[in-house]
Amino acid sequence: MDKIVWHFETKASEDRLSEAREFARRMAHRRSIREFDPDVQISDQIIEACIQAAAQAPSGANRQPWHFAVVKSHEMKLQLRDLAEEVERDFYTSEKFANWRDDIQHISTGWSKPHFTDCSHIIVPFMQMRRLGDEITEPNYYPKESVGLATGFLLAALELAGTATLVHTPHNMNFLNSLLGRPNHERAFVLVIVGAPRQPARVPNLTRKTLAEISSWY
Ligand SMILES: Cc1cc2nc3c(=O)[nH]c(=O)nc-3n(C[C@H](O)[C@H](O)[C@H](O)COP(=O)(O)O)c2cc1C
Repeated sequence: MDKIVWHFETKASEDRLSEAREFARRMAHRRSIREFDPDVQISDQIIEACIQAAAQAPSGANRQPWHFAVVKSHEMKLQLRDLAEEVERDFYTSEKFANWRDDIQHISTGWSKPHFTDCSHIIVPFMQMRRLGDEITEPNYYPKESVGLATGFLLAALELAGTATLVHTPHNMNFLNSLLGRPNHERAFVLVIVGAPRQPARVPNLTRKTLAEISSWY
C-alpha cells in the first residue's frame, strides 16, 4: 500500500501537558442530561461535524464498520419514543430485572422517556457486523470495539460543541432496524440523545473513581 507523509505537529512537553489537562477539564464537564429543552434545536451542521469527528476513530482493519442514523423529525422521535417505552415498561416492571433496577436507582430513571421527544436529535450508531459487497459477505473485525471508540469520539465532539447528551440503551434495540430501515447485518450500539438542557440543569450527585483506583503503572 502507498504511504504518505503525515504532518505530525511536534509540541513542547509543557504544551502537551497543558493540552491534555485542558481536554480532561473539558471532559470532566460532561454529564448525562435527562431533561431537555424542547425549544432549542441544535443545527444539523453541528451534528454532521461531530459525526465527522466520530468517523476519525481507529477501526479494525480500517473497515470503519459504522453507520450513524440521525433522527430529527418530531414524528420519527415520537415513534422511537413509543417503541422504546414499550421495551422499557417491561424492564421497569419485570421481576427478573429487579437487581439491575436497584443498581440504577440513584439516577432516578423510569419507563417514561420524555427526552426522546424533547431533545433536538437522536443519533444511533449502528455496528456493521458483516462487510457486504457485490459478491462478498464476511465478518468485520472488532465492530463493537470500533463503534465504541467512534461513539466516544462522538460524545467528546458533542461536549466540545456545547451540546447536552445522554447515552441511552433501551433494553432491547432490535426495533431500531425496522424503524430506521437499517439492514440485518447492522446492530444498534446505543442511542445518543442530543440537545440543550432544560435549565437549571440537574444531574445526580456522582463521584468519579480516583486516578489511583483506575490506573496501575509498571
Ligand atoms: C452504555 C451505556 C448505557 C447507558 N444507558 C443509559 C440508559 O439507558 N438510561 C440512562 O438514563 N442513562 C444511561 N446511561 C448513562 C449512565 O447512567 C451515566 O453515564 C452514568 O450514570 C454516569 O453519569 P454521567 O454520564 O452523568 O457522568 C448509559 C451510559 C452508558 C455508557
